[in-house]
Amino acid sequence: MRRVVITGLGAITPLGAGVKTTWRRLLESGDGIVSTTKLGTDFTSLPSQVAGLVPLGSRSDGRWQAKDWLPASEERQMALFAQYAIASAHEALEDAGWHPTAQADLEATGVTIGSGIGNLDEAYNTSVAFSHGGYRKVSPLFVPRLLINLAAGHVSIRYGFKGPNHAATTACTTGVHAIGDASRLIAFGDADVMVAGGAESCIHPLAIAGFARARSLATAWNDKPSASSRPFDTNRAGFVIGEGAGIMVLEELEHAKARKANIYAEIRGYGLSSDAYHMTAPREDGEGAFLAMRHALRHAQAKPADVDYINAHATSTVLGDAAENRAIKRLLLGPDGKSSASQINVSSTKGAIGHLLGAAGAVEALFTTLAIHRNVLPPTLNLENTSEDFDCNYVPKTAQQHAVDLAISNSFGFGGTNASLCLGAYR
Ligand SMILES: *[C@@H]1O[C@H](CO)[C@@H](O)[C@H](O)[C@H]1NC(C)=O
Ligand SMILES: *[C@@H]1O[C@H](CO)[C@@H](O)[C@H](O)[C@H]1NC(C)=O
Ligand SMILES: *[C@@H]1O[C@H](CO)[C@@H](O)[C@H](O)[C@H]1NC(C)=O
Ligand SMILES: *[C@@H]1O[C@H](CO)[C@@H](O)[C@H](O)[C@H]1NC(C)=O
Repeated sequence: MRRVVITGLGAITPLGAGVKTTWRRLLESGDGIVSTTKLGTDFTSLPSQVAGLVPLGSRSDGRWQAKDWLPASEERQMALFAQYAIASAHEALEDAGWHPTAQADLEATGVTIGSGIGNLDEAYNTSVAFSHGGYRKVSPLFVPRLLINLAAGHVSIRYGFKGPNHAATTACTTGVHAIGDASRLIAFGDADVMVAGGAESCIHPLAIAGFARARSLATAWNDKPSASSRPFDTNRAGFVIGEGAGIMVLEELEHAKARKANIYAEIRGYGLSSDAYHMTAPREDGEGAFLAMRHALRHAQAKPADVDYINAHATSTVLGDAAENRAIKRLLLGPDGKSSASQINVSSTKGAIGHLLGAAGAVEALFTTLAIHRNVLPPTLNLENTSEDFDCNYVPKTAQQHAVDLAISNSFGFGGTNASLCLGAYR
């Protein structure tokens, strides 16, 4: 089996535009959760009034404005999620130093970038305009701005990448599926380099209304946004919607070595499972999560006891966090596992950025990669009290320095789809 390593990282998140700002602020226990009431009156009537928004401003301050990343003509053609994707892809490719021009290299480079929801804003505005004004109100750019695979399409068009071009859309598991599937394409020989990840931007009143109706969102912390996303905490009460993108450059090991690329970590395993249970609720026993992690470890040929860190999916919902916690303990306290739950290091970085839906798995895999590369456990913000069953080390509030050789990043989505990536230090 061809080995796959990570050689470039790019991200736009509620903590900032760019990996450097995002990672620095994450380790400083910063957060990107703000009130949505300033976004307009449509937001003030909703039960949840907090969100992880990408901070606006200039690129040199680690903030986002489209014109710093792409020409106005492209900005007009692209949905915001696709803009975040193209900016993050640009950063990741610069970081990897991969700028191919030869035909063979372009053919060996592919793109998989997914999104959970896509361009809800465009669908909404055009629906309203069409219903009032009919055919003449529909923009010729409506379809290209709507389609989810256009993020991957735009990246390949900009750089001329002629390898596989794909887009996963599996709700909140999208980012992990995009990266995991891309690693399989490299392992199988369909490509030598893949630009892979997820992007999301649907901080729209209709999206918030929908998730609130599904009773998924935090509603009790509207006056204190930065305390609203509290994975594993006793007072957790729903997720906080967020936006952004995470993109990685994945590369076949010998290819990376031949060009002396910087290697952050290796993709050691990828596990997938389905709850086969319910549209939105997890199985209480966490079986789906357990199976996904176990498959990832089997693929990595690693034992549960080898796992130093788990970046949990934990979105700050009552049921989801409990199910995942149960699954993690079942996996790591097994016969060949740890003897004490307090030795298990788990954190959920959603405390700092909220839940980026289709981008979540990609951004979190990126955090997990840096945890390995820098030997540090990123914190779970707002974790004050835990109930009895929550007895792992959740890295509450502040980052912890600790050698991380092998780690797991989890993502679970509506529809019962679960996936785990197992990442390891490159040796
Ligand atoms: C949709 O309409 C709102 C309100 O007029 C506007 O602020 C927003 O930019 C529009 N979005 C798109 C994608 O055209
Ligand atoms: C597996 O996916 C489902 C999707 O509904 C998710 O809700 C659940 O949390 C995942 N399973 C577990 C046990 O966490
Ligand atoms: C978890 O981290 C602590 C230090 O923060 C360390 O003492 C412990 O060994 C770690 N556990 C594992 C399984 O790596
Ligand atoms: C956490 O628990 C302590 C007592 O153990 C209590 O004093 C405190 O109010 C709790 N904090 C929250 C946020 O519930």
